[in-house]
Amino acid sequence: MAGELSPIDKAKFVAAKRAAQFVEDGMRVGLGTGSTAAWLVRCLGEMVRDDGLRIKGVPTSTRTAQLAREVGIEVISLDEAKWLDLTIDGADEFDGELNLIKGGGGALLQEKIVATASDQMVVIADIGKEVETLGAFPLPIEVIPFGWQTTQALVEETLISMDVLGRSSTLRMNGDIPFITDEGNYIMDLHLNRIGNARQLSLVLNQMPGVVENGLFIDICDAVVIGFGDGRVEVRDINAGTIDRDRMDFVETDNLFSDLTD
Ligand code: A5P
Repeated sequence: MAGELSPIDKAKFVAAKRAAQFVEDGMRVGLGTGSTAAWLVRCLGEMVRDDGLRIKGVPTSTRTAQLAREVGIEVISLDEAKWLDLTIDGADEFDGELNLIKGGGGALLQEKIVATASDQMVVIADIGKEVETLGAFPLPIEVIPFGWQTTQALVEETLISMDVLGRSSTLRMNGDIPFITDEGNYIMDLHLNRIGNARQLSLVLNQMPGVVENGLFIDICDAVVIGFGDGRVEVRDINAGTIDRDRMDFVETDNLFSDLTD
């Protein structure tokens, strides 16, 4: 129940609940991945069940697809949707220009494809995700398994000429074996500490043959809904230049809070 949630989970929940208000009847909605996005999927499922909301959801991972189906959201592929009205997703870091680091959950490739195919992207996050400069969170990049160590060496060498503070990288593991993405690739986490020029870094990384995509989302996010542990939310719209403040109630429905696994 909401009363037993940690402050950080409450913050994630209220951000998700507020962002669900952006969703309108008939929309095609990109559904993000991660613990905050899982709250959103739960909230939308409740709106589908209780309020008769009709939406089509395009999930950004197999685990989000599974959750969306479980809560009663109609799931379609991106190619069926072709274009989306809105994507709502979490983030690992966001800065003042709403540039993001994503991919902590390993779904950055599908997340970026889906967000880019949307009229609007709204990020939901607890206040702890806000940073002055991106880079304290390790930057995930998705790499092709073939020759991954050669790609890693090339990435680390290229980082010498980039405006970053650290250059080490680690292959993400799942126990004793490499973590495998939904697209069958590996994730490499770049420990950069501070990214001085995120736009340049993103372009350079994506030019390397073994790199499929990186977790920097530049000029993709339109608004962020920031949740606080006491139920406050703040909606920052980068295009309108507005900041709205609100407070969300914790509605303790068993369906929403009982079996969240993500
Ligand atoms: C998934 O690959 C990520 O991009 C997530 O959106 C991000 O890691 C945020 O996850 P949490 O909401 O669990 O913090």
